[in-house]
Amino acid sequence: MERTLRLCRQMCGKAMPFREGWFLIWRGSASQVVGYSPISQVEACRKVRDVRDLPHIRRQSRKKMTEKNQINRRREEFPTLASGLHLLSHSLGPVPRAARESMLAYYDAWEHHTSEDAWATSWWEMSAQVGDRIASLLGGEADSVQIQPNASIALSSVASCFDFSGNQRNKIVTTALDFPSMQYIWDAQSRAGATVEAVRSDDGITVRLEDILEAIDDTTCLVALSHVSFRSSYRVDVEPIVERAHRQGALVLLDVYQSAGAVELKASDWQVDFLIGGTIKWLCGGPACGYLYVRPDLQTDLQPRLTGWVAHAAPFDFAQPPMRYTDSVRRFAQGTPSIPALYSVLPGLQIIEEVGMKTIQAESRRRTEWMMDFALEHGWKVNSPRDVNERGGSVMIYVEDGPAMVKRLAERKVFVDCRPGVGLRMSPHFFNTDEEVREAMEILADTIE
Ligand SMILES: Cc1ncc(COP(=O)(O)O)c(C=O)c1O
Repeated sequence: MERTLRLCRQMCGKAMPFREGWFLIWRGSASQVVGYSPISQVEACRKVRDVRDLPHIRRQSRKKMTEKNQINRRREEFPTLASGLHLLSHSLGPVPRAARESMLAYYDAWEHHTSEDAWATSWWEMSAQVGDRIASLLGGEADSVQIQPNASIALSSVASCFDFSGNQRNKIVTTALDFPSMQYIWDAQSRAGATVEAVRSDDGITVRLEDILEAIDDTTCLVALSHVSFRSSYRVDVEPIVERAHRQGALVLLDVYQSAGAVELKASDWQVDFLIGGTIKWLCGGPACGYLYVRPDLQTDLQPRLTGWVAHAAPFDFAQPPMRYTDSVRRFAQGTPSIPALYSVLPGLQIIEEVGMKTIQAESRRRTEWMMDFALEHGWKVNSPRDVNERGGSVMIYVEDGPAMVKRLAERKVFVDCRPGVGLRMSPHFFNTDEEVREAMEILADTIE
């Protein structure tokens, strides 16, 4: 180690042991740290004359990630974080430790259920209670969210409210950056008479607001698009879209799967008509629930054809048809709610509520901004918008062979994923420390170079 330190100092003048097996290297004053490098690599390159010649040096971004407030990241409540750098919140958020107890509470209630008591004492109400907690995270009022099996069913429920065939107003406006379910479901509706216009993306990252507005005309019945794209993290500007759609007599549905839990949402203020999403990603709720927000004044008019007995005004009358929809968001339910799913989302929702969406959003903006700078300084192609106001919580970085890179990063305990044509998707959440975010990017630099 002493020998390596001497060698390193000969090469670049400034070096000191950093942590076990690593050297910190700087130029000029100690505040100009340029990176750090493993001892083995320093020893292996006796001939270099400058730190920049060191192979695989982990370059430090010149910009600092300055943490303004100390926030409680609740790390000890997420056991998965001990196994590496988890940047996968756009895909599967880590399980909260308390989910185990919550699931056991479900088992206990089931085991001790003898007549109708589990339903009467808690289960029947649980769906509405979880719905209200999600509504609050979406910026909506109580009684505006119906839990759904998943986001695709939530979308299909809305689609089933429209009569397309023989109707002048039969156009659905979507975009090329939406999740495939959105595209498949509208494609299927075109067989029932819908006309679908998917607004194109010229760069594969953004969709021009003018193009979306232009597509909305007096034949449009619904504008249905992602608030934040799963593909590029592009975030649409909601208010002008709602304003234009309502002026043309159309409704607006946003898929907020990639924004709820990462970005502050304002369902009521936006006057948006529907939001769909689920709990698996940013809400730390696991592959459990989907949800559908419906603007309160639409809850007494629409009649989804995708329905079931729970949507009835008096479900326990078990009455004969015709269907008599209840006058609440429950009219968008279908059958028996998935009770274990509801138990499993509660701990994640509680943590998100306690950390607070303002803090979560501020952290997301600060760290994704730093990641963008880091990526651009390294000359990487970034497949997400540069402007933080046009971005959700993820940063997409193009790499040649995404699956191979995901594997190599996982070997070094950096957990991300990739999508075809997009590259890596990397998402810091409130529970990640700044050091983790920096380390993940530096390991990526090491792995790419
Ligand atoms: C933006 C977006 N919408 C929809 C979905 C799919 O949701 P579900 O599987 O609940 O139908 C995903 C899943 O990754 C997504 O990212």
